[in-house]
Amino acid sequence: MQEKYNNFNHLKWARESGQDEVLSGVSQNRFLDTQSILKKADSSSLMENAGLSENKSLFNVKPAEEAANAAKTLSELREAFISFEGCSLKNTAMNLVYGDGNAEADVMLIGEAPGADEDREGKPFVGISGQLLDKMIHSIGLPRSEVYVTNILPWRPPGNRQPTPGEIGACLPFVKRHIELVRPRILVLVGGISAKTLLSRTEGIMRLRGRWFNYQVDFNGDSIPAIPVLHPAFLLRSTGQKANAWKDMVAIRKKMKDLEV
Ligand code: URA
Repeated sequence: MQEKYNNFNHLKWARESGQDEVLSGVSQNRFLDTQSILKKADSSSLMENAGLSENKSLFNVKPAEEAANAAKTLSELREAFISFEGCSLKNTAMNLVYGDGNAEADVMLIGEAPGADEDREGKPFVGISGQLLDKMIHSIGLPRSEVYVTNILPWRPPGNRQPTPGEIGACLPFVKRHIELVRPRILVLVGGISAKTLLSRTEGIMRLRGRWFNYQVDFNGDSIPAIPVLHPAFLLRSTGQKANAWKDMVAIRKKMKDLEV
């Protein structure tokens, strides 16, 4: 039987669909935001290989690429992100969650997207999974102050839902530029979304984790060794995976030694 429309049922539906925080008393037309980015254009091969090609005809990635590539420093890239209107997650998030740690670091970690704590503080990996991530890297002698941390998406998806391929594709030029500007010696891809997006792979994280890949850097054809690792949020739910998580950390430590990092 169809449920009757009333205020209570509407609120129930909103909650169940992940709308768990009130950010503004003024309503916004989200359809307008979407329309502004739904333009016919091409997309990068990374998007296609990561299974994002269904958006190929929908997204014009050129403005994002131009804005990201024009940034010559990390602070310019942050400003470019702040001005970027191509991802409607910006409208529901409280803060831009850009990067944290040492911008000169040899090791750069890239997660998925901010959660509620990160959104509130404007910093990546500060909540419970961030605390576990800090412990994981600390176990191989890497404090947060010696790594650089960011995410594929700088805005929290409402209710921590999975980011859509369109949202990932829209922000991808910024992530790629972020990597170019930090120029780490080692990339740690935290979780499946980060690994699949940046390595253009379709396998799940259980198949990708603990293996070394080459992340192709655009600026001069160089590549950076990149390792997918289990996401700390997954580890908090699946404690049986601790041994694998430890193996991944040991692999990073060994690579650091080999590269004299
Ligand atoms: N999970 C992520 O992938 N990134 C964060 O910043 C926080 C939680």
